[in-house]
Amino acid sequence: MSARTFPPGFLWGSATAAHQVEGNCTRNHWWEWEQEGLRQRPGGYVRDGSVSGIACDYYHRFDDDHRLAAELGHQALRISIEWSRIEPERGRFDEAELDHYRRVCDSMLQRGLVPTVTLHHFTNPIWAQREGGWENPEMASWLARFAAYAVRGLGGRVKLWWTINEPMIAPALGYMFGMHPPCVRDPVRALVVARNTLLAHRAIYRAAREAATHTVEVGPVLAMIHFEPLDPGSAADQALAQSSDRFMNEFFLAGLRDGVVADEPVDALQGSYDVIGVNYYMRVLCEAGRGDVAISGARRAAEPERWVDEMGWEVFPDGLRRCLLRAGRLGKPVYVTENGMATLDDTARTEHLYAHLEKVRGAIDEGADVRGYFYWSLMDNFEWAEGYSRHFGLVAVDRQTLERRPRPTAFVYRDIIRANAI
Ligand code: BGC
Repeated sequence: MSARTFPPGFLWGSATAAHQVEGNCTRNHWWEWEQEGLRQRPGGYVRDGSVSGIACDYYHRFDDDHRLAAELGHQALRISIEWSRIEPERGRFDEAELDHYRRVCDSMLQRGLVPTVTLHHFTNPIWAQREGGWENPEMASWLARFAAYAVRGLGGRVKLWWTINEPMIAPALGYMFGMHPPCVRDPVRALVVARNTLLAHRAIYRAAREAATHTVEVGPVLAMIHFEPLDPGSAADQALAQSSDRFMNEFFLAGLRDGVVADEPVDALQGSYDVIGVNYYMRVLCEAGRGDVAISGARRAAEPERWVDEMGWEVFPDGLRRCLLRAGRLGKPVYVTENGMATLDDTARTEHLYAHLEKVRGAIDEGADVRGYFYWSLMDNFEWAEGYSRHFGLVAVDRQTLERRPRPTAFVYRDIIRANAI
C-alpha cells in the first residue's frame, strides 16, 4: 500500500443528522427551544435568527439525496433516526415512522450506499426533556427501549450502529457553558449529565446487541478535541488544557476502556463498544482565566496566521492523527464519523480535506485500525445554535428553493474515493 493509498475496503461517505436535515422535527426539545426563542426575543435564540423549520426537507427528498451522494462516489452515509418521531409520547411507538426509516435505508441500499445509523444525535423527545432529559437517570432505560425497537425494526438493513453522538456535548454545551438547550451553566449538573450519557451509552449498546437479528457492530461517536496550553510554559494554561482534555475526551475513553465513571467502577461498561467513531474538528489553545474553553479562540502570537473556519474553530489537521491513535488504543476499529470545515471558500475546503486525509493515512501507518471516513456534511444544514449561516456541505443548499448544488470539493472527494487514494 503506497503512502497515499487507503486500505482495501476503506469506507467513504458523509454524515448528516435528522434534526439538521429532515425538517419539521416538531416533537424534540431543540424544536421547542427554537420556538420558545421566537416568543422570547426578536430574532430568537439561534445566532442568525433562524429556526430549523423545513431544514433541507431530507424527510421527503431522501431518495434524490441518496442518488446525488451515489453520483458523488459515496459508498456509505451516516444518518441519524429521530427518536421523537419514533416515540412521540412516552412508551408509544409509531410504526409508520419506523417504516419511514426502513424506506430511507432501502433507498440507500438500492443506490449502493451502506447505511450507518446514529440512535441519538443531540435531540430528546419533548416528553423526555419535560421529565428532566439527561439529568434523569431513566434516560438510559428509555433509550435502551427505543434502541431495541429501532434495531429490531430496521433488521438486516443496518450493520453499523452508533449509540450516542458526541455524548460530552450535552454536558459541556448544554449544562456547563449554557450554549445549547437547556442552557444551564452549572458544573455539578454537567457532571450528573456526563455520568448519565455514559450509562445511557452502556444501556443502548447492550440493548442494540441483544435486539439485533443479525451481526451488528455498535459503538459511540466521540467528539475529540485536541487541547494544548496557549503558553506551554504556563502551569495554569497546562492545568486548564489537562482538565479540559480530562472532561471532554478522557471521561468517555476511560469509561469504555476501564469501566469507570468519574473514577468509580461501573458494571458492564468496560469494553461496551465494537467500534469507535471519532468526530474531529479543531485544536483548542487553553488560556487560564478565559471561561468558555471550548470556544476560547485564543491565539499564539508567534505562530503564523491560523486557519479558522466560519465557526471560529482552529483547523489543526495533526490533531486528527493524534485523536485517531488515541481512540485506536481502545483496541477496536475506528471510523472518522465526522470531519469537515464550515466555509464558503471551497479552495480552503479542498485543502482541508487533503490535509486531514493525509493525517488519517498517517494514523493508519502508525498502527490505528481506521476503517472509514465520513465528511461532515453531505449538505449545508441547520447548524444548531448557529443556524444556517455555517456551510459544512459538500453540497450547497439554496435556502429559498432547497435546490442542491455540489461544490467543487464534492468532485475532488469523488475522485479520491474512486482511487481509494489521495
Ligand atoms: C455534530 C454535528 C455538527 C457538527 C459541526 C458535531 O458537533 O455532531 O451535528 O453539526 O459537529 O458543529
